[in-house]
Amino acid sequence: MSDQKKPIALEERATEGKRLMSPSAVRNLPYIMEAFQSLGLTDGKVLEIGCGTGEHAAHLVEANAGLSWFATDLDPASVDSCNDWATHLSISDRLIAETVDASKPPDYSELGPFDVVYSSNVIHISPITVLEGILQTAGRELKPQGRMAFYGPFSRNGEHTAESNAAFDQNLKMRDPSWGVRDLDNDVVPRAIKNRLALETVRAMPANNFFVVFRRES
Ligand SMILES: C[S@@+](CC[C@H](N)C(=O)[O-])C[C@H]1O[C@@H](n2cnc3c(N)ncnc32)[C@H](O)[C@@H]1O
Repeated sequence: MSDQKKPIALEERATEGKRLMSPSAVRNLPYIMEAFQSLGLTDGKVLEIGCGTGEHAAHLVEANAGLSWFATDLDPASVDSCNDWATHLSISDRLIAETVDASKPPDYSELGPFDVVYSSNVIHISPITVLEGILQTAGRELKPQGRMAFYGPFSRNGEHTAESNAAFDQNLKMRDPSWGVRDLDNDVVPRAIKNRLALETVRAMPANNFFVVFRRES
């Protein structure tokens, strides 16, 4: 499959002007908002990688006055959607999105350092170079003790945590052999350590997903 034919989302999305609506983002948003709240991620500067429609960013920023959020995505229509959500909710002063390829991370030093780097449902729908780019960005752009948060499916120590995740992994690899559910212990943690990121929290979430947090060492 050529790059141009790859889907940027594995679902149908409704639109309203430039604003895209993702059924999965609407479903998981309350659980993600609760994780941000209970893990103390609701203050300071966030860099989001692979923001998709921008609904996570928009609703988290709207609900938390202490957050300012720089969202990025490879896909220009997703970036436009995120910026339109910001306009729609009157939070453009605290949420802005730009097109960035996470596998070729830019220098964010003029915007950072960040308190949180966040990436939801991205690293299994992209080559491993995207995971590597995200971790490199987090290691370089987070404040000491800042946090890198991932949401999505993970296997643990080489084993899928649910039959449905094993089937999803096969489906992803059929679409593109460079995609696939990442193994938290074998794929993510060793690459995180190389970027001075220590595993802090692994929280089970609905639908066999996880909210995973790394802390940037001082
Ligand atoms: C399944 S969507 C997830 C969107 C959103 N984070 C969510 O959880 O609803 C995956 C997103 O990753 C983005 N993406 C894929 N490869 C990327 C890359 N190399 N750099 C930045 N974003 C990328 C896609 O464009 C898409 O918007």
